Amino acid sequence: MKFYLAPMEGITTYTYRNTVHKYFDHIDKYYTPFIVATQNLRLKNNEKRDICFDHNQGLYVVPQILANNADALIWAIAECQRLGYHEVNLNLGCPSPTVVTKRRGSGMLGDLNALDEMLDRTFKMMPQGMSLSIKTRLGIEDTSHTRELMHLYNKYPLSELIIHPRCTKDYYKKPVHLDDFALALQESNHEIVYNGNILDVYSYKQFHAQFPQVKAVMMGRGLIADPDLVHQIQTGEVIDKEVLLAFLMELFDLYKVRIDGVRNTLMKMKELWFYLQSLFIFEKKDLKKILKARTEEDYKAAVTYFISVSEIDPREKRDIHFR
Ligand SMILES: Cc1cc2nc3c(=O)[nH]c(=O)nc-3n(C[C@H](O)[C@H](O)[C@H](O)COP(=O)(O)O)c2cc1C
Repeated sequence: MKFYLAPMEGITTYTYRNTVHKYFDHIDKYYTPFIVATQNLRLKNNEKRDICFDHNQGLYVVPQILANNADALIWAIAECQRLGYHEVNLNLGCPSPTVVTKRRGSGMLGDLNALDEMLDRTFKMMPQGMSLSIKTRLGIEDTSHTRELMHLYNKYPLSELIIHPRCTKDYYKKPVHLDDFALALQESNHEIVYNGNILDVYSYKQFHAQFPQVKAVMMGRGLIADPDLVHQIQTGEVIDKEVLLAFLMELFDLYKVRIDGVRNTLMKMKELWFYLQSLFIFEKKDLKKILKARTEEDYKAAVTYFISVSEIDPREKRDIHFR
């Protein structure tokens, strides 16, 4: 099985990807959060920093692009090639209303003719040596067009097709539609990567037992909650608390320099703790100390204390509050 880190805007930054790779080296591919291929064909500075080739050395990184027309998409693909990449991913899954209303992300799934035209033109103009994969949901209102969508994708030489079997309206909370995923598997000619709700060893095993033919999974929130989850899946060993502490401290120190200041760094780290807490059996008051910390010293002391007194939940099926 191959394991991919899902793109998560604001979370799986180049700083996060590199640090996770340094401490927990079990991920086969790292996807960047989306960069937007806009009409004016310019990337924002933070997008440039995130996909800058020097910031992504020593790990396999796939830049992800959000686009709603072929010209912008082709431009972004060429830009990624110029930076040194050979593979990019097209986001056809983002459910955020601000994205969908611009017919980007899963918003493209509302007009399959327009999607077909965009892919047709893009593949005709594809720079030599570049490959394109797609990360897709299975519809906007519902998943009733799954078969049609797979037939559309079958027309193009995608390097992989990553399926998140929800529709836009499901956002991230509703259950994944595994029956539609089974249909997609049956109808697709592509290498399929599964994504959605693999959050602990138990959910991985359930998925693998049901779909043994799938050779790659992409995980998002589960890996943020337990950056060593792949190792636990592979060996049964749970994450080493000391390594986790060192990882979190290094991440803090890097963010402090790179995102300008302790306040923003604290916000970033606390966002991680929204997920990380499900890795532990802990006292609420100990977590509160982390979430209330306002200085670097208080934060680091609270994290050190929390990790020393809280137990890693050893169970394969964890109590995941964001499931
Ligand atoms: C905070 C957040 C940010 C996300 N950003 C992106 C993104 O930039 N591109 C993308 O394709 N998906 C994005 N996603 C979706 C994830 O990649 C993934 O598809 C989703 O979390 C389901 O997988 P999981 O159950 O393994 O977390 C995001 C999800 C979350 C919760």
